[in-house]
Amino acid sequence: MAKKKLVVLTGAGVSAESGISTFRDSNGLWENYDPQEVASIEGWYRNRALLLDFYNMMRANLRDVRPNDAHRAIAALEADYDVRVITQNVDNLHERAGSTRILHLHGELTKVRPENGVYDQTYSEKEVFDIGYEAIHLGDKAPNGSQLRPHIVWFGEAVPKIEPAIDWVSQADILLIVGSSLSVYPAAGLYRYAPAAAPIYLIDPQEVAVHDARIIPIREKATVGMKKFIEMIGK
Ligand code: APR
Repeated sequence: MAKKKLVVLTGAGVSAESGISTFRDSNGLWENYDPQEVASIEGWYRNRALLLDFYNMMRANLRDVRPNDAHRAIAALEADYDVRVITQNVDNLHERAGSTRILHLHGELTKVRPENGVYDQTYSEKEVFDIGYEAIHLGDKAPNGSQLRPHIVWFGEAVPKIEPAIDWVSQADILLIVGSSLSVYPAAGLYRYAPAAAPIYLIDPQEVAVHDARIIPIREKATVGMKKFIEMIGK
């Protein structure tokens, strides 16, 4: 019998217990940096060096953090479910925990690609390179001669993988949201594509401002919430 489709939408909260700060909690990343300055396409065209340094720092930090039990629990569910992870996170912790079907909506920290033209959103997947935890600097060029940039979806840019993400959610038997404030669209609206029959579980220690009767809140941090979720759905 085909395994039930479990779609897991994750945000920064799933990596909080690995030591990666979230964006909007107290002392979150956006409390210490202005996203419009360090994570927007306008910011890139104002000051490429600043953004290259910001993402070089984030990429270097990633080398020293590890997946936590929530990442591992999500990966382990592949034994009993057809698990598809849609993450807003740019870290590689789902991969390192063993998940095998992952869609990064906002890009990936270990990857870079050519800048191509001004405001040019076009690139092909074969132009995307994984540099691990290394740094890139002004003057580091792609084979096509244009400046290398982080393979991150910045504020002001399109979210190229939103269509396949909608497709996954619209086929879900169960939707699980872990660690997202659901404040950045289009990711925040994905849960609305879940079939009417699909229960929607939401693991977060805080109340998340979504008002949908289908949502079953699990008011815990991710590592504890995953245990409760697994009990609730029964393996
Ligand atoms: N376990 C689970 N959830 C947690 C934990 C934890 N240990 N700690 C914090 N959280 C929750 C917070 O309560 C909050 O609801 O995780 C959520 C984090 O929300 P944000 O910081 O807004 O992160 P996220 O929703 O992923 O942001 C979405 O915004 O800046 C952009 O591109 C960036 O992908 C990011 C997007």
